[in-house]
Amino acid sequence: MRLRTADEIPFQRKRLEKQMNHEKWAGRFGAILAVAGSAIGLGNFIRFPGQAALYGGGAFIIPYIAAFVLLGLPIAWMEWTIGRYAGVRGFNSVPGIFRCVTGKRSMSYAGSLCVTLTMIITMYYLFIESWCLAYALRYLFDTMPGGHFNTFFTASTGAGGNGDFFAQGYFNLNLYCLAACILINYVLIYQGIVKGIERFCAFAMPALFICLLIILVRVITLGNPTGIPGQDFISGLGFVWNPSQPGKTMVQSLSNPETWLAAAGQVFFSLSLGFGVICTYASYTKRNDDICLSSLTAAAANGFCEAVLAALIIVPAAFMFIGPALLTPENLNSSFTLGFQVLPQVFASMPAGHFFGFLFFFLLFLAAVTSSISTIQPGITLMEEGLNVGRKASVAVMALITSFGAFFTAYFTKNLLALDTLDFWVANVLIFIMAGVQVIIFAWGMGVKSSMEELHRGSQIRLPHWFVFVFKYITPLYLAVIFVTWCYSSFLDRLRDIAADTVVQLSIGLILFIMMFNFLITSQANRRWGKEQKEDNDYTI
Ligand code: ALA
Repeated sequence: MRLRTADEIPFQRKRLEKQMNHEKWAGRFGAILAVAGSAIGLGNFIRFPGQAALYGGGAFIIPYIAAFVLLGLPIAWMEWTIGRYAGVRGFNSVPGIFRCVTGKRSMSYAGSLCVTLTMIITMYYLFIESWCLAYALRYLFDTMPGGHFNTFFTASTGAGGNGDFFAQGYFNLNLYCLAACILINYVLIYQGIVKGIERFCAFAMPALFICLLIILVRVITLGNPTGIPGQDFISGLGFVWNPSQPGKTMVQSLSNPETWLAAAGQVFFSLSLGFGVICTYASYTKRNDDICLSSLTAAAANGFCEAVLAALIIVPAAFMFIGPALLTPENLNSSFTLGFQVLPQVFASMPAGHFFGFLFFFLLFLAAVTSSISTIQPGITLMEEGLNVGRKASVAVMALITSFGAFFTAYFTKNLLALDTLDFWVANVLIFIMAGVQVIIFAWGMGVKSSMEELHRGSQIRLPHWFVFVFKYITPLYLAVIFVTWCYSSFLDRLRDIAADTVVQLSIGLILFIMMFNFLITSQANRRWGKEQKEDNDYTI
């Protein structure tokens, strides 16, 4: 299959007219803040610290940096490039973007998988986001219990049994928080790219950093809060960041393939790669806007947030107050246990713990909202482009579908199985596949040299020439090796789970339903784009 190179992609008059009326980011930093907002989320604050401590501490940083440089940055640059490229040609939906840059109708269906991916992530992400809001409010109004946080977490999230979440009577704060999260997200999305997303991120991102810095200063200045020898901040840092961990040397950590898989998975989820979010956001940039430095800035902000700030706070704080005994591999491996059960123990023992508990969960909530609005946007754009409907209708339909999914996740809460199943198939399997598709489009389809020229258009920095080799060979190869190794280690078990449990089957059914829905809208969109193409004489500007 030969795809069109970047120079061969025409502008279509009709699309272009639409594009003139489309929103663009208002400020220079609009796109950077929005992409950084999408990236900086729960993954940074409660996933990264646990994964780092679990997979060799300081040793984990080596595969993390390798994945960041060889997968994260190149794929982010690719997404920005194809997004802006198709955006200036009047396509903002991922199916439209894929169709525009490849000239292949069939590729729009691949793009619709990104929309499926983001819709499913939105469904369970909203549920988790609502826990953050509920915890923040409980700390604010001093109604957080003083202990037994695991029992409290199980009861408030309904993780004890299916339907438990809804069986808590009228005074179920978590239920109201879930409804509030859905409302907040859709009100923001309804305001549009500039007045909704850009404006909210311009407030939320600095607010988030301020909360983070206050908590960081508090943690660093705690000294040795329990008086137990060896439980101070420096020892806490050592617990996380020593390259050699008790019973595990650095070489042992690095020779474990799981360490490399965990690092790549973290980089993927954390940078929102393969979601189609970055290319959707990039499609609202102008033709000569810088995207090369913008992408680097957003990715660096994300990396700084997790590998520097979050890593200095979360596990060291837990180490100082509760000691290493509770920081078991099980607790570290589960973001929920670390975030919602272990950290409340820290706040319960910390002076002014209610204030810091509120600050921490409020910052998690802000980070979650800036991520979830980004996962809602691709569905909205597809609806607008595919069905030619206005914002009101597309927001209403998306809100209805994702609320259904969020309530589905909130109903089938036993052991959080529905959430876990959706997360596995979408945020583990599908994001790798979709990132692979984007790599092929950029490096092989559009032609890596012309793609790089497009990336450099209006850019304030230029990548060294050898990046051609990274884009074309290293990134695809790294991606393929990680994906195959990972399939080998966990795919078969998950396939067996499908046959064994009804909730897993229903969750897969939900994914398939959303997939069909997006295929249908994409086919409708293709009909419109095809018609427009016939009516237009392609011309270039
Ligand atoms: N990138 C987002 C996060 O880290 C989804 O939570």
